[in-house]
Amino acid sequence: MYYFIERMTEEDIEQVQAIERASFSTLWSANTYRHELRSPSTSRYIVARASPIPPPPRAERQPVRRGLLASLLPALFGQQPSLRDVPIVGYGGVWLSVDEGHITTIAVAPEYRGRGIGELLLNGLIDQALDLHADVLTLEVRVSNVVAQQLYLKYGFRPAGTRPRYYTDNGEDALIMWTDPIRTPAYQEKLRHLRERLFARLREEAEAPEPVRNGVRPGMQ
Ligand SMILES: CC(C)(COP(=O)(O)OP(=O)(O)OC[C@H]1O[C@@H](n2cnc3c(N)ncnc32)[C@H](O)[C@@H]1OP(=O)(O)O)[C@@H](O)C(=O)NCCC(=O)NCCS
Repeated sequence: MYYFIERMTEEDIEQVQAIERASFSTLWSANTYRHELRSPSTSRYIVARASPIPPPPRAERQPVRRGLLASLLPALFGQQPSLRDVPIVGYGGVWLSVDEGHITTIAVAPEYRGRGIGELLLNGLIDQALDLHADVLTLEVRVSNVVAQQLYLKYGFRPAGTRPRYYTDNGEDALIMWTDPIRTPAYQEKLRHLRERLFARLREEAEAPEPVRNGVRPGMQ
């Protein structure tokens, strides 16, 4: 599978909500997503898609939708040709407050976890935060969510206190995490190094045959 990131659009909300339902116990309404998507000067949302064929380069995607993919996708998916037909397997968002980029959400569909997609999304969110001129990143995460914390630690987020009983569903505390300034040569170098490793991993996964489970290949149902 080839995984790639795109800006989320309102057409994507339904698929994003399906992943959200499988990932979180408190959910956003479609209107909340619409509001966020209509505020691009402070909010950026992205989706990760999984394609069995290599996606066209980002700059070419718009025209290619009517060209090469127009001829390939009907054969693969049996319907209208569009990148919109390539399933969404993860999403995330970042919100700018003054010079702070707040990671508001990030999730990967359960059957696609552990393949580097969460990391790909976090990289996409860091790019969006840089584009919004954020100088530093922050987020809240459940104290029990060790998997997500590991991902954030890898990207230089560090614990900086808790918000007691932050989560209304079970009264769990939130761990607050912050990065160092993200525009410094030191952070940029760390990012470059992590990205090289991630892209090598994703290339390897793209070239490996998909495992067959119960006679069905993941992502093709
Ligand atoms: C957190 C989440 C987005 C990670 O996505 P993912 O695609 O499974 O993660 P990746 O495969 O990209 O792994 C990236 C890093 O995350 C951490 N990680 C992933 N799975 C892990 C596991 N099972 N145990 C410990 N750390 C893990 C590791 O640091 C990993 O880097 P490594 O491969 O070098 O060890 C995903 O687990 C998820 O959607 N969880 C539910 C929603 C959620 O909790 N979101 C966070 C809210 S704050």
